[in-house]
Amino acid sequence: MENTIERIYSDAMDALAAATDSDSINQLSIQYLGRKGRITHFLRNISRLPVEQRPQAGKRANEIKRLLEEKFDHALASLSEKTKPVADRIDVSLPGLAMDIGACHPITQITNRICNIFSQMGFDVVQGPEVETDYYNFEALNIPKNHPARDMQDTFYMSENVVLRTHTSPTQPRVMEKRQPPVRIIAPGKVYRCDSDLTHTPMFHQVEGLLVDRYVSFSDLKGVLTAFIHQMFDDQTTLRFRPSFFPFTEPSAEVDIRCVICRGKGCRVCSRTGWIEILGSGMVHPAVLENVEYDTSRYTGFAFGMGVERIAMLKFGIDDIRRYFDNDSRFLSQF
Ligand code: FA5
Ligand code: MG
Repeated sequence: MENTIERIYSDAMDALAAATDSDSINQLSIQYLGRKGRITHFLRNISRLPVEQRPQAGKRANEIKRLLEEKFDHALASLSEKTKPVADRIDVSLPGLAMDIGACHPITQITNRICNIFSQMGFDVVQGPEVETDYYNFEALNIPKNHPARDMQDTFYMSENVVLRTHTSPTQPRVMEKRQPPVRIIAPGKVYRCDSDLTHTPMFHQVEGLLVDRYVSFSDLKGVLTAFIHQMFDDQTTLRFRPSFFPFTEPSAEVDIRCVICRGKGCRVCSRTGWIEILGSGMVHPAVLENVEYDTSRYTGFAFGMGVERIAMLKFGIDDIRRYFDNDSRFLSQF
């Protein structure tokens, strides 16, 4: 007798496993649990069993009845979940997968802005190599071997005569060798120095400028750089020309602008001076013009080299130059 009820159960489970739609599941439900179903039939005939078997058989049959009700219900429910339209199965209130969108790096933005301002003044944009010969990086610029001025720029040497350029100035002789005056160029690019702290990184960016023509004077240099800074920042920006020395310019000047981080009060970025140096400049030294065989009795010129990171720091109010190269997208996405 016990075997009969267990067989009914296992038959029902096999049939359920084979059922693929709600009609066949409903059919099974009738076949087993309906008024004329196999379980109902079994329960009705319990009285025919020997007395001592009746309680146990009745208990087991009722258990199986409940179990099958549950299984059939569950099968119907999961079937209706699978056949629901996609839109009903997706929780549209869940947050979506956002796509991170990149942006132009602040250094690139500022470099482009500098190039635009000078292009409007008639300068061509050119580029030179980052791995440079000792000749163009130093000698053509009036910095002979063993000259103490080489100490101004801690150099990465690739070999005795090949260096990572320490500044963009080697583009000056490279361009002048190929073009005759008038020359008006700017040259943006990466430069390398063995140098690292709050305001110095081993790789940084400069934009070189060079103008050679007849009758070019220091006042032209002052005028062009002042116009540039007033366009870059605003026409209230205070700047000062401070006498300096570069072997390739004479006279030479460095240009400082009022520190915009502390507004001139003095902070760690401006080393408590209230001013930040943004470029070096001067009248092209006659020795440099002679190296490229320009007629120094006819032509004079001025040159300048500015640090892009410094200008970007002032423009965006950034107080640590190393942030540019950490590649932290939380920092970079602010610009
Ligand atoms: C020069 O590199 C000269 N070639 C500039 C020049 C060009 C003078 C043409 C005359 C004529 P200096 O070493 O001062 O000069 O660097 C120029 C600018 O680059 C600095 O004013 C500063 O803004 C920036 N700079 C220099 N060193 C670093 C550094 N390690 N990290 C970031 N910026 C720097
Ligand atoms: Mg300097």
